Amino acid sequence: MSPIQVAILTVSDTASKDATADKSGPTIKDILVQSGFKCKHTSIVSDDVPEIHNTVLGWCAEEGVDLILTTGGTGFGVRDKTPEAISSLIERPAPGLVHLLLSSSLQRTPYAALSRPIAGTFKNTLIITLPGSVKAVKENLEALLADNILGHAVDL
Ligand code: MTE
Repeated sequence: MSPIQVAILTVSDTASKDATADKSGPTIKDILVQSGFKCKHTSIVSDDVPEIHNTVLGWCAEEGVDLILTTGGTGFGVRDKTPEAISSLIERPAPGLVHLLLSSSLQRTPYAALSRPIAGTFKNTLIITLPGSVKAVKENLEALLADNILGHAVDL
């Protein structure tokens, strides 16, 4: 079977000015490549709704982007707008994946309640928003990769 093709978007005002500040995007890429996924795109944008929306929309319009993961901008900060930028794109919400992320994360830290994750599909692409820290990204991916949940979701 051909590998799942993923695009990774880091959403951060800081990292959009200095790419070396982005630790979470590369962490997602490392973990997914080690798990057999193929990384098709990575990009960094500021916490700007049109920039986030248009980048994700562009990737969805491409042939063969199975999965888009964003990192950052899911919290309650005034600039945190990733869920708003993504939710307007989602055709079929995936509340089960959101529940998985929140329930597994809450077992690690009560601060997980401060993330507002979105998951769902647009056309043939599954989109999931992850929090911004490396720790949160690792914990969320652990939940998504357990029992090949992510692989099954994309296969379906
Ligand atoms: N989820 C997990 N699994 N582990 C964490 O450490 N940190 C939380 C939360 N989700 C965390 C987590 C914190 S402290 C914040 S502020 C929110 O994610 C939002 O992060 P973001 O604004 O960088 O997306």
